[in-house]
Amino acid sequence: MDLLLKTPDEKKFKQICEYIREFELDDRELRQEQFVAAYRNNELVGFGRLRERGDCTELCSLGVVTPHRRKGIGKALVKELIKRAKGELFLVCIIPDFFAPFGFKETSNYPLSIQEKIDYCTAELVVPEKYVAMKYAS
Ligand SMILES: CC(C)(COP(=O)(O)OP(=O)(O)OC[C@H]1O[C@@H](n2cnc3c(N)ncnc32)[C@H](O)[C@@H]1OP(=O)(O)O)[C@@H](O)C(=O)NCCC(=O)NCCS
Repeated sequence: MDLLLKTPDEKKFKQICEYIREFELDDRELRQEQFVAAYRNNELVGFGRLRERGDCTELCSLGVVTPHRRKGIGKALVKELIKRAKGELFLVCIIPDFFAPFGFKETSNYPLSIQEKIDYCTAELVVPEKYVAMKYAS
C-alpha cells in the first residue's frame, strides 16, 4: 500500500479539523504537531493524534476518510502513534475490538485525565455504546 505517514502541514491540518467535527471526534485543544496524517497520492486519507495530558499520553481523534476505510489505514496510523508515544498510553473508545490487537487492554485503573475524557465523551459525544478506557501494554 502506497501510504505516507507524517505530521500534517497547515492546510492538511485544517482539513483534519473539519473531518474531526464531521466524524464527531474529540475537537478540544487541537494542535497541528499532535497529529499523524496518512496520505495517499498527496490526498489526506486519515489521521490520529497523541495528546499529552500531564498524567499520561492519550491516543485520540483517530479517523479514516469514509471511502478509504477497511483498507488498513487505521491500523497503520495506530501502529505509528504507538511508535511515537512516550510514557503511559491510554485511550477512550467505543470500539475496543479494533484496538485490542495492537496491545490495548480494557482497564478500570486509569489517571484523572482519562476519567475526564470518559465524562466528556459521555456528556458531549452521546452514542448508544459504552465508552471504555484502554491502556497500551507492549
Ligand atoms: C475506526 C476507524 C479509524 C478504522 O479505520 P480503518 O482504516 O477502516 O481500519 P483498518 O482497515 O485499518 O482495520 C484494521 C482492522 O480493524 C478492523 N476494524 C475496522 N473497523 C472496526 C470497527 N469499527 N470495530 C472493530 N473492528 C474494526 C478491521 O476489520 C481490520 O481487521 P483485520 O486486520 O483483521 O482485517 C475508521 O472506521 C473510522 O474513522 N471510524 C470513524 C471514527 C472513529 O470511530 N474513530 C475511532 C474513535 S475512538
